[in-house]
Amino acid sequence: MNELEYMRAEAPLEEPQRQYYFMKKGKELVTKLSEEAGHPLTFCVTTFGCQMNARDSEKLVGILEQMGYINEADEEKADFVIFNTCTVRENANQRVYGRLGQLSRIKKQNPYMMIGLCGCMMQEAEVVEKIKKSYRYVDLIFGTHNIYKFAELIVTRLESNRMVIDVWKDTDQIVEELPNERKYSFKSGVNIMFGCNNFCSYCIVPYVRGRERSRNPKDIVREIERFVADGVVEVMLLGQNVNSYGKTLEEPMSFAQLLQEIEKIEGLQRIRFMTPHPKDLSDELIEVMGQSKKICKHLHLPLQSGSTRILEKMNRRYTKEQYLNLVDKIRAAVPDISLTTDIIVGFPGETEEDFLETLDVVKKVRYDSAFTFQYSKRTGTPAAVMENQVSPDVVKERFERLLKEVQSISAEVCSVYKDTIQEVLVESVNDHDDSLVTGRMGNNLLVHFSGKPSLIGNLVTVKLTECHGFYYIGEQVCVKTDSEKTENKFQQ
Ligand code: 5AD
Ligand code: SF4
Repeated sequence: MNELEYMRAEAPLEEPQRQYYFMKKGKELVTKLSEEAGHPLTFCVTTFGCQMNARDSEKLVGILEQMGYINEADEEKADFVIFNTCTVRENANQRVYGRLGQLSRIKKQNPYMMIGLCGCMMQEAEVVEKIKKSYRYVDLIFGTHNIYKFAELIVTRLESNRMVIDVWKDTDQIVEELPNERKYSFKSGVNIMFGCNNFCSYCIVPYVRGRERSRNPKDIVREIERFVADGVVEVMLLGQNVNSYGKTLEEPMSFAQLLQEIEKIEGLQRIRFMTPHPKDLSDELIEVMGQSKKICKHLHLPLQSGSTRILEKMNRRYTKEQYLNLVDKIRAAVPDISLTTDIIVGFPGETEEDFLETLDVVKKVRYDSAFTFQYSKRTGTPAAVMENQVSPDVVKERFERLLKEVQSISAEVCSVYKDTIQEVLVESVNDHDDSLVTGRMGNNLLVHFSGKPSLIGNLVTVKLTECHGFYYIGEQVCVKTDSEKTENKFQQ
């Protein structure tokens, strides 16, 4: 038996114990290599794409730090560069290839350097083939289903000196209790479910993130309780279609019921979630949102298209009218709710009339903000082989018109908060002026105001004095704390 086989034989089979075994083994290897190199080995994880990927990256960082790697913000200086990739649109893929090309020169100068690729793009067989052929200096490739095995894969790479590739088609496994290193001390993403079963006809996600599976509610609540004990005041519950939460559990539970459990967690102040699907948004959820003290008054409700004809081709399973009725229902139950959305222009077969329907919904709903996308053909999805793909010029022209409409409405909608007093969760020192801090209102709007860095992580009461379209300038309002109010009462 060689050393590698011996190590495999003695590793526990149970997870997560197996991964803790490999983190320990890996740490010994990393310590040895750091001594050889004359400096502690460093890593840089670069995240592309959505919040789900951002949360996955925190898990990667947690594992790397357990193994003794040190965080290095500058990709070009790191000894281990990991790209956590996205493939939802073609331009995301191109950016990864571009960055990989640049790394080849740097890798030639650093004998200790390794490059790892993971995330959605790696779930596509053509991508892995292309990397094997044209980017042979990549060290490690793995997918979305086995990131929990990161430590084991690194050890395999360090021991074998070959490119290691491990990509799974799907999984029904969820491994709990692995390390993770939160990017922010006061807020965190929390996965509540993985995968998507919706198969919207333009979307690659169901193919690269697999079938829907939900985490056990107890595991979710325990994780949030731990975060709160560690200073977290805001959580973002993450899933591709959070309304489907709980359907696959042994004891099924609805998303609204999960929210009510999370609401009970003492010390937690704000709950956000993303993304709900309009077709599954229940009355129960609307009611829970209306009554909650902690769920932020913000709903991201992807429209994709305002044309019922196109929505049907997109396999969205709602009509323009159903979407608008849903918006009315939500606004009736939660009057001050902020609504945001995702819209795709140029889906195959989209005519000028279809596009005008989308503009019509935008004008009727008056979103606080909207992410607008030009349709991107994803190989393997039903829409990629549909007839009447819209020419890039037409897509671009419609996109510009939509953007103009969205921005002008958004500026009007956001200006209504001028001179109001709002709770703002302070997130950072302002990028451009360090006498200011930057925070977010419950509805997600950004606010900058004069304040000390010690406010970071606190909910602060702020008067919004100047509106600048999608952000505000404000000033802190002095409010008495509960203990001050009590003291005053006794003095009276
Ligand atoms: N082209 C353009 N936009 C897309 N999205 C998903 N797939 C595509 C595609 N093929 C957008 C949708 C989704 C958001 C995350 O990305 O609007 O809600
Ligand atoms: Fe993609 Fe539709 Fe699933 Fe969202 S709900 S991830 S758009 S398939």
